[in-house]
Amino acid sequence: MRKLSPATMALAALFTLAAPPMLFAEEKSGEVKIDLPPETAQLKPGPGMDTASRNCKTCHSVDYIYMQPPLTREQWTATVMKMKKVFGAPIPDNDVAIIVNYLVSQNGKE
Ligand code: HEC
Repeated sequence: MRKLSPATMALAALFTLAAPPMLFAEEKSGEVKIDLPPETAQLKPGPGMDTASRNCKTCHSVDYIYMQPPLTREQWTATVMKMKKVFGAPIPDNDVAIIVNYLVSQNGKE
């Protein structure tokens, strides 16, 4: 038997578990189709959306913003500073307030 790479074997195992014949056929033709869950991943319109979009989409889905319970201005500021200081997000100082305003307008409690 031909030696398969671990990745290929993992894929094969996955497809065998899922719905073998059809998916295998697709894999052989080189077109593996995998349905991912739909990503909402869009920021809702509002003042500062462009700035938030520029700074908050590079590392993770913007779903993170909407998955939080409504946060206070202090909590959103702390979150943005955590992205910046702890996780190294290159957020310009001038953008912090704009982003925080946007976040509070989207998912804040004041
Ligand atoms: C440099 C990469 C990076 C950027 C840019 C970034 N984040 Fe994050 N973010 C992370 C990491 C790492 C985590 C925590 C790990 C995880 O849960 O995936 C996280 C987690 C979060 C969480 C979950 C709650 C928490 O505090 O952990 C929220 C909310 C969040 N980010 C919001 C934002 C917002 C708003 C921006 C834009 C200002 C942003 N992120 C930009 C890396 C980043």
